[in-house]
Amino acid sequence: MELLEKLKIKPIEWIEDDSEGPKLRWLDTRLLPWEEVYRETRDYRRVAVAIKSMEIRGAPAIGVAAAYGLALAAVYSNSKSSEELWNKLQEAREVLATTRPTAYNLFWALNRVMNKAREQLERGSDVDDIIRTVVDEAKKIHIEDVKTNIELGRIGAKLIDDGDTILTHCNAGALATAAYGTAEGIMRAAIEEGKRIKVIATETRPLLQGARLTVWELKKEGIEVKLITDNMVGYVMYKGLVDKVIVGADRITADGYVANKIGTYMIAVLAYRHKVPFYVAAPTSTFDMSIEGDNIPIEERDPDEVRTILGKLLITVKDVDVYNPAFDITPPELVTAIITEKGIITPPYREAIARIVKGKR
Ligand code: MRU
Repeated sequence: MELLEKLKIKPIEWIEDDSEGPKLRWLDTRLLPWEEVYRETRDYRRVAVAIKSMEIRGAPAIGVAAAYGLALAAVYSNSKSSEELWNKLQEAREVLATTRPTAYNLFWALNRVMNKAREQLERGSDVDDIIRTVVDEAKKIHIEDVKTNIELGRIGAKLIDDGDTILTHCNAGALATAAYGTAEGIMRAAIEEGKRIKVIATETRPLLQGARLTVWELKKEGIEVKLITDNMVGYVMYKGLVDKVIVGADRITADGYVANKIGTYMIAVLAYRHKVPFYVAAPTSTFDMSIEGDNIPIEERDPDEVRTILGKLLITVKDVDVYNPAFDITPPELVTAIITEKGIITPPYREAIARIVKGKR
């Protein structure tokens, strides 16, 4: 856990040294950049609320939080038998799995923890052993995410040249992961290597993850960042102000379709038009090898997110009909490369994804 202690931004923390028992603490990203408020709970249902309401957001962070949700469900289940504990874990899994449909890391993390619990159950382990296994697996997912991002950053930094201006969308940074970030992790690693880079962050309507979170975390570390509105991307590319695009991903299919924050597809089309490399940074836990094409479930959120600015200011007629998909899908032909912790994946994607995600370099 030493690595976790050193982190500058700790979006999620599992706290054990508390007389009332372990608890989960997280940074409420809805309130950034105005307030830095940490929330705590011992109730997995509260973790589900935090994911659904986007106090915790970003695919890898959602996965880590959900795994700790199961850990809380196990620790506080008061089960008398292993079977009772298993049933309660299944209930908790169901609640956590129905929070946000697009981010694959959520299902990946829940399955990973549940598979470990099932192994123990089938082995005839007692309640305490199963609880220990579930908590340990959640902690492993957490620490692995940090290491994965650092490795992904190191690998991705090879693609960055000294002097590059990188455009990013939404927030694929420390605040979207256990730490360090995926797209922002590459920027951090490039800077650690001594490269000078500049970042252009899109504001990312409707919830402004770019304006609120990407800008907050990059400025906190002294990384040069310029904010633009989403509809300025075409003009800044036309003016030749962007050398590379790097975005994160919520789910990538076996043949390279990428679900990411709404607006990503528009940026990919523009990047193609202007011959700007379009990179996707994602851990292998974001790949859903069970689907192909654009068959990714896309979350639709509350229309008021579009009608208002963060629920505070109504910017239209209050009952206007609204469409609010939280993500879009970028087809593989618009993606220059996908950067993972196991290597850089380039077209043709189906074969390369199978090779890398299954672990062979
Ligand atoms: O709705 P959000 O804020 O959870 O969307 C987040 C994104 O789209 C990120 O780009 C993605 O999860 C990758 S985070 C490393």
